[in-house]
Amino acid sequence: MFSAAHGADKVQVGHSVELAGRGHRLLITLTGSCLADTIFTARSVPADRILVAMVAVGEGPELGDAFGRALSDRQTGQPGAIVIERDDGFIEVDSGDYLGGWSDRDTWALERAPGRVLDMGAGAGRASLAVQERGQDVVALDVSPGAVGVCRRRGVKEVFLGTVAELAAAGGAPFDSVLMLGNNLGLLGSLERAPEALAALGAVLRPDGVIVGACIDPYQTDKPVHLAYHECNRRAGRMPGQVTIRVRYQRLATGWFDLLWMSLNELGEIAAPAGWRVTSALPGAEYRAVLARN
Ligand SMILES: C[S@@+](CC[C@H](N)C(=O)[O-])C[C@H]1O[C@@H](n2cnc3c(N)ncnc32)[C@H](O)[C@@H]1O
Repeated sequence: MFSAAHGADKVQVGHSVELAGRGHRLLITLTGSCLADTIFTARSVPADRILVAMVAVGEGPELGDAFGRALSDRQTGQPGAIVIERDDGFIEVDSGDYLGGWSDRDTWALERAPGRVLDMGAGAGRASLAVQERGQDVVALDVSPGAVGVCRRRGVKEVFLGTVAELAAAGGAPFDSVLMLGNNLGLLGSLERAPEALAALGAVLRPDGVIVGACIDPYQTDKPVHLAYHECNRRAGRMPGQVTIRVRYQRLATGWFDLLWMSLNELGEIAAPAGWRVTSALPGAEYRAVLARN
């Protein structure tokens, strides 16, 4: 079969063969007892021990719902690494336990999120499920179709696929609290975008509603690679903790987007002109904070 496909009947296992002019690569893997460095002929290996996959060559990762696909796979017992790629080339495996993880700090946050709750950037819905268990109404909102599907399958009763602005446009009852766990206060994005993001959250909240969230304090590190990134940001006129990243999972990548890691003080300074103030906080490298209107 290989000779018909690419003009040779011998392929080194673990290597790939480019199909001339087609922009694709043929990947061949042997399973079972076959040795990985064997030169084999197609006829010498049982068909059920050969896995063949076609991947595009030179096109990089496929743009898509990397985070949602990873959550869906995890939900069906197929765990795989989620990789965060920063625009300076720094990569890191995301160690978040999005399906099962919970901490005392998250409980602290939940206890400060009364009434009807919007779980902003719900992921696999761990916060929404905890809110439901407390007997409160909650809407799990996420821009990832995969994440929203996982929330639904895990039993979150109300889900919304889209942005907060789209939810506001769709109408519906106002919320008493917005929850932004999993460091989702970072979704404020940048110094420039934060006022618009806070206004969108304000638009779905009652006047006395609160935002309860988590965020990374970027200054609680001594790693040279991060300090150099901060410095680069300063020189470019950005806040030190603004990171441009994309999420990678297998061959998928999201588009590039910005998160804003800020100290508690910076959060207060950014929130104030938009009419918000920090009313209580649990300080730390991954702090929790409550914001209310002035
Ligand atoms: C780090 S995960 C946190 C998930 C969850 N809050 C938790 O604590 O497990 C961030 C989530 O935010 C979602 N997200 C990113 N940008 C968003 C936006 N602009 N609006 C709503 N959700 C967003 C992502 O799809 C992802 O599911």
